[in-house]
Parts: sequence; structure tokens; C-alpha cells
Amino acid sequence: MDRKQFLRSTLFLGGLGLASSALLVESCKKSSSTSSAQGPSANFTLDISQSPYTALKTVGGSVALNGVVVICTATNTYNALAQACTHQGCSMSYSSNQMVCPCHGGSFDMNGNVVSGPPSIPIKKYTVTKSGNILTISG
Ligand code: FES
Repeated sequence: MDRKQFLRSTLFLGGLGLASSALLVESCKKSSSTSSAQGPSANFTLDISQSPYTALKTVGGSVALNGVVVICTATNTYNALAQACTHQGCSMSYSSNQMVCPCHGGSFDMNGNVVSGPPSIPIKKYTVTKSGNILTISG
């Protein structure tokens, strides 16, 4: 092998190495990305002084509406999370600072992150604002 042949083969192999590295980096990006939270779009209000929403006047109270569970987590503090489990879509309810799925035992924290399986995808968390007795849920 003369010098020209050596340089050509070295450049060729170097190019293959770079291409392989780029593919590996790209495949790692795909496998390490997390799925985005799932839940319906929401934009509605409710009056906590009116039935059936008065449960939201009590800390720990919750109401399900429009595919969203609204929770009173502390005095004048509210949270809203998607009601459907991201595993197989069962309707969940609020219990002890978690959203709990009755079908296969999945659970989510108050930010919508998976606490226990089998779900792997978080549930959507909504914005809740309060003005007097009116809660506005959006997201
Ligand atoms: S549907 Fe919720 S854990 Fe399976």
C-alpha cells in the first residue's frame, strides 16, 4: 500500500466512524426522550359555592369534570390533572396526594408524573386560577 492508498483508506474509515457516531447519538436521543403528558385540552370555569362543586371548598376535596380532576390541595390552593390513565384510559380519582388508577394500580403525583406502573406516560397538569368562588381551569 502506497502513501496515497493509505490516506484514502484512512479518510474512508474515518468517515465511516463519524457517520456511525452520528447515528448512535441520534438513536440515543430518541430512546432517552420522554413522552409528553397526555390529557384533553381544557378551558372552563366552575363556581365552588354551587353544587356539585362545593367539595372543592374543603382541603382534600375533588371534582371530576370534562376529563379533568380538580383538587383542593390546601386552603385556596387548587390543582387539576387529567382524569384518564395513560396506560389504558381508565378513569382515575384523587386519593392521598395522588391520582390513582383502579384498573391496574397505576398512580401519578400532583405534577402528573408516574409514581407507580404500569403507566409510563405522565398525565397532563392544568393551570388553575381562582377569583372569588370561580375557578378557571385551562391548558
Ligand atoms: S389503565 Fe391505569 S394502570 Fe392500567
